[in-house]
Amino acid sequence: MSNIQLHGKSFEIFLPEALIQEKIAALASEINTAYAGKKPLFIAVLNGSFMFASDLFKSISIEAEICFIKLASYKGTTSTGQVITAIGLDVDLTNRHIIVLEDIIDTGKTLHTFLPQLHNQQPASLKIGVLLHKPDATVFEVPIDYCCFSIPNKFVLGYGLDYDGYGRNSRDIYKLAE
Ligand code: IMP
Ligand code: MG
Repeated sequence: MSNIQLHGKSFEIFLPEALIQEKIAALASEINTAYAGKKPLFIAVLNGSFMFASDLFKSISIEAEICFIKLASYKGTTSTGQVITAIGLDVDLTNRHIIVLEDIIDTGKTLHTFLPQLHNQQPASLKIGVLLHKPDATVFEVPIDYCCFSIPNKFVLGYGLDYDGYGRNSRDIYKLAE
C-alpha cells in the first residue's frame, strides 16, 4: 500500500520492507566480523527499536547478548526535549563491548542524555547503531558508528516507530505526506 491514514494524518511509503531488511543484513554481517570473539552486549532502546533490534539480532551469528532499556522523549510528532528513563539497565557493563541500538536519532537528545550513564560504567568499548538518522534535525551531537539510513527531517513511522503509539506494526516505513 502506498498511502495510509493513521490517527488523523496521511502517510506515504518511504522505505519498503525489503530495503530495510537488506540494510540490516549488511549491518549484521559487518558486526559479525568486527566483534568476533568479543561477546558484544547490545542495548536496545525501547520502544521504537524493538523490530530493528530483533531483526538485527537474528542475523548476529557470533556469541552476543542483548538487553533493553526504555527511554522516551517524544509526544505526537515532535520531541518534548525531555528524556525519561522508564526502564533502567540491569546489566554490568564493565569491560564489555557495548553496541547501543536506536530506531532513530532525531535531535540527539535521548542518546546525548543517556550515553554518559553508560560511559560511567567503563565499558571496554561503546558504539552506536541506528536504523535511521535525521542529520538536519541535530541539536545534540551523537557519535554514530553504524547507520542504516540517513533521512530528511520528516516525521516517519512504521517498523517499530510510532505516531502517538500507533503505526509500529507496519513492516514498511512511511513518512508524513506533504
Ligand atoms: P531524539 O532524542 O530527538 O534524538 O529522538 C529520539 C527518539 O524520538 C527516537 O528514539 C524515537 O523514539 C523518537 N523519534 C524521533 N523522530 C521520530 C520520527 O520521525 N518518528 C517516530 N519517532 C521519532
Ligand atoms: Mg526511540
